[in-house]
Amino acid sequence: TAPATIDLREYIRNIPDFPKPGIQFKDITPLLASPEAFRSAIEQLAAHFRGRGVEVIAAAEARGFIFGAPLAMQMGAGFVPIRKPGKLPYATIAQEYQLEYGSDRLEVHSDALGRGRRVLLLDDVLATGGTMKACIDLVHSAGAELVACAFVIELSFLEGRARLTPPEVFSLITY
Ligand code: PRP
Ligand code: MG
Repeated sequence: TAPATIDLREYIRNIPDFPKPGIQFKDITPLLASPEAFRSAIEQLAAHFRGRGVEVIAAAEARGFIFGAPLAMQMGAGFVPIRKPGKLPYATIAQEYQLEYGSDRLEVHSDALGRGRRVLLLDDVLATGGTMKACIDLVHSAGAELVACAFVIELSFLEGRARLTPPEVFSLITY
């Protein structure tokens, strides 16, 4: 079980004006570098979703992978990578999403999120919600069942949560 004494916020470093002036970047690398904090984050996520019948953790590259793979292990679930275009070798389904300037695309193997499979989507940060919205659309296109969307960090002032309509949105740390 997670040590109750760990305050994950102490392991998130604020970087002013990165990558652009005015942006307060939340740097997760101190959390990743701490065995206790990293383990606590994964165990807190696993504890929250235990008993919910999660069969698959799906996460978008790159930072989603860092938390998604250990959470899958911890929960006894499989892991499904959601990738940027052209990376997956088998047949894929794709979803476009809007960035601040222009758009991007995420892909998942067409057989990875089978019909009715119970999927938990995970990412490191919820900002505008564009990335997670694309992931939700992929889960729905595949006919899988979305249990929830989970994040290590939620930037609530960007109101990304309002763009998401899963059964649950869960975050470990909210700013
Ligand atoms: C970051 C972060 C989330 C997303 C959140 O990923 O890891 O996936 O932005 O922003 P949003 O809610 O506005 O979509 P990024 O696209 O920078 O790529 P990375 O994970 O490969 O670093
Ligand atoms: Mg990302």
